[in-house]
Amino acid sequence: MKYGHFDDTAREYVINTPYTPLPWINYLGSEDFFSIISNTGGGYSFYRDAKLRRITRYRYNGVPNDAGGRCFYITDGGVTWSPAFLPSKTELDSYKCRHGLGYTVFESSKNGLSSELCAFIPVGENCEINRLVLTNNSGETKKISVVSAVEFCLWNAVDDASNFQRNFNTGELEAIDCEKGCIIFHKTEYRERRNHYAYFSVNRPITGYDTSREVFLGKFNGWDTPDAVKYGKSANKVSHGWAPIASHRVEIILKPGEKTSLVYVLGYCELPKEEKWEKPGIINKKPAFEQLNRVESDTLVDKALNNLKEYWSSLLSKFTTQSGDDKLDRMVNIWHQYQCMVTFNMSRSASYYESGMGRGMGFRDSCQDLLGFVHLVPGRARERILDITATQKDDGSCWHQYQPLTKQGNADVGIGFNDDPLWLPAAVHAYISETGDAGILHEPVPFDCKEGTEVSLFEHLRLCVDYTLKRLGPHGLPLIGRADWNDCLNLNCFSEEPGESFQTTANFESGVAESVFIAGMFVLYGRQYAEICEKYGCKDEAARIYAAADKMAEAVRTHGWDGEWFIRAYDAYGKKIGSKECKEGQIFIEPQGMCVMAGIGVEPGGLARKALDSVKERLTTEYGTCLLSPCYSEYHLELGEVSSYPPGYKENGGIFCHNNPWVSIAEVMTGNADEAFAVYTRICPAYREERSEIHRVEPYVYNQMIAGQEAPTFGEGKNSWLTGTAAWTFVNASQYLLGVQPTLEGLRIAPCLPNNFNEIKINRQYRDVNYDILIKRTGKYSLTVNGQKIDGDVIPIQTADCRVEVTI
Ligand code: GLC
Ligand code: GLC
Repeated sequence: MKYGHFDDTAREYVINTPYTPLPWINYLGSEDFFSIISNTGGGYSFYRDAKLRRITRYRYNGVPNDAGGRCFYITDGGVTWSPAFLPSKTELDSYKCRHGLGYTVFESSKNGLSSELCAFIPVGENCEINRLVLTNNSGETKKISVVSAVEFCLWNAVDDASNFQRNFNTGELEAIDCEKGCIIFHKTEYRERRNHYAYFSVNRPITGYDTSREVFLGKFNGWDTPDAVKYGKSANKVSHGWAPIASHRVEIILKPGEKTSLVYVLGYCELPKEEKWEKPGIINKKPAFEQLNRVESDTLVDKALNNLKEYWSSLLSKFTTQSGDDKLDRMVNIWHQYQCMVTFNMSRSASYYESGMGRGMGFRDSCQDLLGFVHLVPGRARERILDITATQKDDGSCWHQYQPLTKQGNADVGIGFNDDPLWLPAAVHAYISETGDAGILHEPVPFDCKEGTEVSLFEHLRLCVDYTLKRLGPHGLPLIGRADWNDCLNLNCFSEEPGESFQTTANFESGVAESVFIAGMFVLYGRQYAEICEKYGCKDEAARIYAAADKMAEAVRTHGWDGEWFIRAYDAYGKKIGSKECKEGQIFIEPQGMCVMAGIGVEPGGLARKALDSVKERLTTEYGTCLLSPCYSEYHLELGEVSSYPPGYKENGGIFCHNNPWVSIAEVMTGNADEAFAVYTRICPAYREERSEIHRVEPYVYNQMIAGQEAPTFGEGKNSWLTGTAAWTFVNASQYLLGVQPTLEGLRIAPCLPNNFNEIKINRQYRDVNYDILIKRTGKYSLTVNGQKIDGDVIPIQTADCRVEVTI
């Protein structure tokens, strides 16, 4: 069953009912100011950091679900309704929510009045626009009142949700009402150390306003039926303390056929310390006025919206395909890349399942997100690489997370996830392959953000690789530390305390528990680092690491192979995990994907084929490839969080989407196009849209986890949007299935798609040159550039736009 459809021309997903199984959300914003918006108008806004700089308040896990956000109440002829359905919940005569790239539009109507509410954040501005257009389609003149409301968060989202004894006292606002409209300023804590405020405005004369949530809602009401709306009266007072809100009341008369528009702006302004005040107690509103002058009129909104659309057109023009398969095209050309931008911006911080209060930017997450993003805005990828690198310590270890606002490592989570450092060479290799900018290797970057400790990025990379080499266990495989990619495989944790963190508790530092997955990573990314050394630095260092990678691959073949598949790990007692010898957890997906991607056993008849056949047989379901099998039925002290989940959920045998693309890539590496594509389509949103009632999450983006074969709710998706699947899928689809892969030497063209793909067109902008690629199936590989035959499958760097013809 579907709840909407793709509109590929508009690059939108059009939802036709508010009753989606879960809120289906979108992201607004591209640089610093961001908002989340659901298909019923819920969500919140923040500036750069969802934890430290939250602008509006949102209640996670609230009752009823998804209340609050941008509230609009239209009262017409005694009936009150909301253009986004919530908060008023009045049944609408028509409803449509169009989630586009960086904007969302609600089209609704009730009793002959239609509304179009468009929400977006203009490129380059720190504000969210909500433009409400009302049209009277009835034969009579309508007298309408429109009441808006947003609830402010007192900036630090964690403190806001917990420190009530203070926070009920600190709230401060200012309101100004001028001919042009009304602006309500939120200035809590501005009197002391904050140099920023928020505001909410409307661009026309008002007949009333509210600033106190309590007064606005009245006793015992929710956002669905505020007193102010019910009784048609605003308090017109600036409130003190408690819960500051901003609400405007506008009265409108609309003749038959007449149309009007209101522009609401939720803005954020930062001021230099010396310029904070206009006069004592009165904030300097200049930046707000200036911002409003740039965005507030109808024409300016149109212009900003067009800008946003052009911004996306230009970003997406870097990779486009016409493959003959509409679903593949829409995912590759639009939604995969869009999701890559969102995960790059958000890491795992703010979604409807990540509260924005917990994690900041993850080290491994951000490095992987970059793999799918780097072609979009290489300059931002560069900056991100340097930020991430600066969280490394001088012994090569890395903070597992950092806060985007301060860029400092997050001490609560600490270090010791032994895969972390190896993701950095992966990111840098991808960046240089994309841009050719080897200069980045010589950028000075500090340790642990401490000024004066700078060494080159190149040196940081060496430390990353040596971090693994210095931490090998009894089988010559890397020690796992607190966990590797699988955050829940906590082999040194042994936790018996309820509530204790599995990730930060390491009370059994065995010095023995090893990860075959990290071994695979070392072979893959150690070699990528060596490639960089060979091309840009020193041949000796390259030789040292190639030799170490060969040795590691040998250790995997000897100690990491179980007969039919790769073993997952050795536990703190040196016992195998992910082996046929185990009662449960006999096979894990991660080492199969990673070791094959690293090229271990890919020779014909080698281990790789066997491992992948085992994946097909034991882990593959109609809804995707499960993480492990059989699931753990009991808690295991020696395994940690993986065994804490009920069977079939999350890391305990759920379909953890993130590593499905690894299996697809691995299938490509063994030349199995049909299964490679099947692995891709099983979890791909566009291909599973038809079963949205089972899957439940948004059908236009990936989610983290689908309940696995042993789960009672098999096929149900959870944790939409912020997942490494976004980046890995785009890498898989663009570089392996469609086969256009940036390398240090140029673009490699090696498509691997099922036989029914006969002719594929791809346009790729790469290192300032446009590659117009035509792929035809003839049964034999050949490659020509502007009619000239090329040996091998890599096109050397071109200096002018070129036409590429490939036969496969
Ligand atoms: C989550 C984490 C990621 C981890 C994965 C598996 O997606 O963000 O870092 O690798 O779970 O545990
Ligand atoms: C990852 C895992 C999750 C775990 C968390 C701990 O996100 O997916 O299961 O609880 O890491 O931070």
